[in-house]
Amino acid sequence: MITFRNNFDKVAEYYNNNAHAQKIAAKRLIEILKSMGESNFQNILELGAGSGILTNLIKNNFDYENIICSDLAYNFLKFNSEPIKVQCDILKLPFKQESFDWVVSSSTFQWIYNFDELLKEIKFVSKNHFKGAFSIFLKGTFYEMDKVNKLTGFGNILEMKESRYYLETFYKNGFNVDISYEEKHTIFFDTVREFLESHKMTGATVKANKFISKSSYNSFLKYYRELFSMNNKIPASYNIGYYIISH
Ligand SMILES: C[S@@+](CC[C@H](N)C(=O)[O-])C[C@H]1O[C@@H](n2cnc3c(N)ncnc32)[C@H](O)[C@@H]1O
Repeated sequence: MITFRNNFDKVAEYYNNNAHAQKIAAKRLIEILKSMGESNFQNILELGAGSGILTNLIKNNFDYENIICSDLAYNFLKFNSEPIKVQCDILKLPFKQESFDWVVSSSTFQWIYNFDELLKEIKFVSKNHFKGAFSIFLKGTFYEMDKVNKLTGFGNILEMKESRYYLETFYKNGFNVDISYEEKHTIFFDTVREFLESHKMTGATVKANKFISKSSYNSFLKYYRELFSMNNKIPASYNIGYYIISH
């Protein structure tokens, strides 16, 4: 049996220097909110706030009364400079009914195995005229790594969903989708090893309960380079969905 777990707590101190795609996702979400003319957010709940990449952008770009940052990983929250931080599983939110005007989240929901349950939690804690702003990593992210993993038996990537799944689950739970937007990004590295190391330092690795041999690691490096390198650079693909929802 293969079980998956992420490593967010372990890599907290290295995360910000390696979270290239997560920074793109948070920045894009802010640009979308700005293009909608949003400026005053009143009470905000941030889900999976981590060390505060999105939190800081909100702070620098918008007015609000309060922002409460929630995350499961204690070590991550330690690096978040906001004063109100709550360590919790976002599938069991410890807040009263109708507490928040906005719920925001970046680069987190792809880790949530029961998205339907999460939306029920969000609905419970949100006020009337609530809005949500989310960026989510979608299927197609780590396209190259997935192919080479399958070829060499080296590792596994997190199974990510298509945008359609999130849209259907928003509608099923009675939310309006005001904006839905999918965008591909490619980040280039000098070597496959450098990509793997950087990926590891984001904590977004999934560990399988299986022995990984030196030879499958070497095959991974070789095939990734041979199949995908472009002008001597190593590409890593990301497919990110952006959603503004309301009810
Ligand atoms: C890739 S990081 C994103 C952090 C931050 N939002 C950013 O943009 O850099 C994903 C975060 O989701 C958190 N997370 C994952 N599953 C969670 C859960 N069930 N409850 C709370 N936080 C969770 C992790 O601890 C981690 O901090």
